[in-house]
Formats: sequence, C-alpha cells, structure tokens
Amino acid sequence: METITKVQEMMERRKGLEGRVGFVPTMGALHQGHLSLIERSLKENDHTIVSIFVNPTQFLPGEDYERYPRRYEADRRICEVAGVELLFMPEVHEIYGVDEVGIKAPKVKGYILEGYFRPGHFDGVLQIVTKLFHIVRPDRAYFGKKDAQQLYLVQKMVRDLFWDIEIVPCEIVRDRDGLALSSRNLYLSPQERSQALLLSKSLKRAAKMVQEGILDAQTIKAQMEEILAPLEVEYVEIVDREFNRLDQVEIGNTIILVAAYSGGTRLIDNIWI
Ligand code: PAJ
Repeated sequence: METITKVQEMMERRKGLEGRVGFVPTMGALHQGHLSLIERSLKENDHTIVSIFVNPTQFLPGEDYERYPRRYEADRRICEVAGVELLFMPEVHEIYGVDEVGIKAPKVKGYILEGYFRPGHFDGVLQIVTKLFHIVRPDRAYFGKKDAQQLYLVQKMVRDLFWDIEIVPCEIVRDRDGLALSSRNLYLSPQERSQALLLSKSLKRAAKMVQEGILDAQTIKAQMEEILAPLEVEYVEIVDREFNRLDQVEIGNTIILVAAYSGGTRLIDNIWI
C-alpha cells in the first residue's frame, strides 16, 4: 500500500490508474463500518483509494474537532491488511487555503435535522467531498447509510452539479448488541455505552410497530421518545428518502432518524423502512 500526503502527488498518481476507481472518504479511527465500505469498493473496482482527513470545516465551534480520535498508524495498518492500494492522508494546509470559493449545502435540506442542530456542518462536508472528488476523480464513491442525511446531500450534490460519479449507499454496521458503529463511540464510558443502546432500541421498536401495521408518524415517534427518555434527545424524525417529513410511514420510502446525547457524546442512528 502506498500512503500519499500531498495533493499534487495524489492527482499525479490518479492519472496513472486505468480501469474503475472506487473511493472511500473517511475521518479515520477506522472500524468495521468503514471497513465494510472499503471491502465493497475493493470488490467492485479495479483500484480503491481511501482518504483519512479530519475535516475542520465540518465541525462547529465548540464541537470535538481537537479531540476527534486520530489513530493514523493503526488506520494505516487496517487499510494495508484490507488490501487498499492508495491511502490519501493530507494535512489541513494541503487542503485549505484562505478566502476560498465555498460550496453551500441546500438551504432547506442542508439545514434541517443534522443541519438544524449543526448549522453549516453540511457546507463543510460538501466542501471537503468536492475537493476530494476532484483530487481522486473516482468512478464510484462509497457512503454509509449511518449518516443518512450526508449520503442524501452528497447524492443530491452529484445530481445537481451533473457530476459523473456513482454514489454507492452502504448498510449500517452494528455491534452485536445493536449499537451502530461510530468513531465517536470511543468517547463513551461503559455506562454511557449501555445508555447509547437506547437509540437502536427505539429504532427497533419503530420497525416492529410498522410491521404490526402502525404507520402513523406521531404514534411511532411518541413510543420512541418514551424509550429515549433517559437521554437528551435532539430529534426523532420520520422522513421519506428525499428528507421530506412524513405523517405516515411509506414502506420502501422511509427513514426513521434519531439524534441524542449519551453523556457528553452526540450520537445518531437511523433505520430504512
Ligand atoms: P466518517 O464519520 O469517518 O465516516 C466515513 C464513512 O463511513 C461515511 O460514509 C459513514 O457514513 C460511514 N460509516 C460510519 N459508520 C458506519 C457504520 N456503522 N456503518 C456503515 N457505514 C458507516 O462521514 C464522514 O467520515 C465525513 O463526513 C466525510 C464524508 C469523510 C467527509 O469529511
């Protein structure tokens, strides 16, 4: 595996690649969720490029940018063992200059739910994804359903800008007990971790209600909120695949989302119905 830290070098190296290039952008502290994206890209493409970059512009002031886990050596080994060909790990000054042209998330879909509680977050996400797409020029890029709104907005950006990249949605990987894997799970104490299970528990309950024929969004949300009561909940929402709020679950076109704090750690999870 080759590790590249310079933008120019990455772009040169990309030019030499023939065949299909798959790309997995990450912020590192890699876990099985990331690995499932990487493995899928390895299977579906001639070349796989993984990036690790803790992107400062998607963190709001007061968020965890400084303390976000950085485990570059372990991550490098994970990528190497997985069979990744190129690992791109740029430093911040390689990626960002001053007074830059910006990408703006859509005013509605980029500022509801995650975007409401983290205003500007998706501007930063789309800015870095744009830069990385231009550097790596992938044919396919792999994103997890875990970050459902991010996945939707990247798909929307690619559509809106007539960008010839296939965005591949990947299933959420969970621990045995249901907790969705996340680099931020590293922050959780054992007690906070067991409280965090309430997110997936509430989503399981919602799925069961739908199975039983209960489709009313208010009824489902009320049940979920009851389960989530011990946590500080930011939102529980039921949307269609274009992130329009739903009053009734539409089977095959619904995402149920939750964001809540366990201790000081902000967690998100969702289920696709
Ligand atoms: P990060 O949180 O590192 O996640 C990288 C990719 O892994 C995202 O597409 C995310 O949805 C996916 N992922 C994370 N946990 C997962 C899980 N449990 N199951 C399946 N997929 C999972 O998302 C980001 O980084 C950044 O915003 C990024 C897109 C890299 C831009 O900076």
